[in-house]
Amino acid sequence: MKTRLKQLFPPEEIHLAITRLANEIRRDYAGKTPILIGILKGSFVFLADLIRALKMPVEIDFIRAASYGSGDTSSGNVRITKDIDANIENREIIVVEDIIDTGMTLKVILKHLGTRGPASLKLCALVDKPHCRQAHVEIDYLGFHTKENFLVGYGLDYNERYRYLPGLYVMEKDK
Ligand code: PRP
Repeated sequence: MKTRLKQLFPPEEIHLAITRLANEIRRDYAGKTPILIGILKGSFVFLADLIRALKMPVEIDFIRAASYGSGDTSSGNVRITKDIDANIENREIIVVEDIIDTGMTLKVILKHLGTRGPASLKLCALVDKPHCRQAHVEIDYLGFHTKENFLVGYGLDYNERYRYLPGLYVMEKDK
């Protein structure tokens, strides 16, 4: 099976969206130092650009979850495979996610982080795919939503490929 990539969001559009998100976050967290927690691996590019656009003091940490099952989407069986290092008790937390699909990964991660006593727990996502949702998640800061199914680039992969691409692409499979 051959695959083709169709550009969906070019780097310039991503940059504009991140500037908008950073302005909203800077306004909401004035005088505070939130901890931004990136969900590995996909969010690392977004997180790196977001913290530089924020132009305010932040701390960062990472968490990783894996879902088990078949196919290109989460099975719902999500397990945390790398926990955060930071003590987040009484801290302002912003979880940073590249893409929300079924919502199962975030449901598990937000519940897990919520047990650690943060002062607040918000979610910033670059792309939402609401048509795929199985678990409800509240998104506080959102870059884009799309009806497309499989995106790669800007940190997102297909079998570990394409994470390096500067834009977001739809992967189309030819039969
Ligand atoms: C992707 C993406 C999200 C998750 C979203 O990660 O980065 O974390 O899937 O899916 P969900 O809403 O259906 O749970 P993936 O499991 O592909 O791992 P990766 O980030 O390491 O590429």
